Amino acid sequence: MTGKIIGLGSYLPAKVLTNDDLSKMVDTNDEWITERTGIKERRISDPLTDKPSQMVVKAAMQAVEDAGIDPKDIDLIVTATTTSDLMFPTLSCVIHRELGVSEECGTFDVNSACPGWIAAYNAAQGFIEGGNAKLVLVAGVECTSNFVNWEDRGQCILFGDGAGAAILRAEEGKPNQFIMRSSGKRMDCLHCDNAMQPARMNEEGFKELTKFNMDGREVFKFAVTEVPKLIRDLAAKFDFSLEDVDWFVMHQANARIIEATAKKLKVSLDKFPMNIMRTGNTSSASIPVLLKEMKDNGQLKRGMKLVIASFGGGLTWDANYIEY
Ligand code: UT7
Repeated sequence: MTGKIIGLGSYLPAKVLTNDDLSKMVDTNDEWITERTGIKERRISDPLTDKPSQMVVKAAMQAVEDAGIDPKDIDLIVTATTTSDLMFPTLSCVIHRELGVSEECGTFDVNSACPGWIAAYNAAQGFIEGGNAKLVLVAGVECTSNFVNWEDRGQCILFGDGAGAAILRAEEGKPNQFIMRSSGKRMDCLHCDNAMQPARMNEEGFKELTKFNMDGREVFKFAVTEVPKLIRDLAAKFDFSLEDVDWFVMHQANARIIEATAKKLKVSLDKFPMNIMRTGNTSSASIPVLLKEMKDNGQLKRGMKLVIASFGGGLTWDANYIEY
């Protein structure tokens, strides 16, 4: 048995922050951001009504409705996030409560930065393939707007908030096909220290520790080098041809990274759907949000062959081959 995606859901906050809005906050402009990233606007959550714990429930409810299942039958919930509004319990527990899921259901969250949803998906597949779950909700949610440095034009222009979710059901099929990689020694180029650490108690420590740190150039170089290699390795490991893949659903971090990946793989850019112009980088929500959009606009159809790939803080980079 393996997990098949039978439902998708997403939620983006209503507030739009355009490049022109950003140009009033930091020294930047629409032309630079569009050319260097492909982003035109991103969504920013309302601190009262769009907490991660609220956004993720909305995406989860939509996924349940899309799948046409009774939430009482879900037997595992896994949520990927790096920006939860709760230290504990997990956001999976919040979804559990809000959807009225039975006590026969396990819950846990994962943090693997931007590829978090893929890590959560792979964990869920492990439960399904081991015979320990039949119906799993896999969610991803981020509110990076609470953490990015709004004075650093090299990072605040990139990110947006949002949530996505999928329902996986155990069905006959090939086992999950994936590769996950990490490079802890490169963690310095993308990290955010925990603001609740004791050093926050003094003024300097607070300023230092609440900062989201990103060496954009290093992350860019890493992504355009490692992601194409990862996808080639995935094709070799699971013996499929890149030509037969219908869609390459990439983490929406920068349109230039996606373009460089397509070029290196010698695959038409038309096979790389993008919504980054409207969403920015929503971290672990980026892939399920894009999948839901593709389903809604008719791009995603049963039987299609997908490669999903993501990269981010860790550094981590993961990819899966999915027969949808
Ligand atoms: O999920 C993973 C998360 N992170 C990423 O994916 C980050 C990957 N990296 C990137 O997307 C790109 O590196 C950035 C978009 C962050 C930056 O683009 P870049 O083409 O690598 O620019 P750069 O850092 O090499 O900077 C080029 C110039 C610099 O000016 P000088 O030194 O040449 O005078 C920057 O100061 O552009 C300047 N710059 C900006 N100018 C206007 C940097 N950010 C901005 C800005 N507006 N927002």
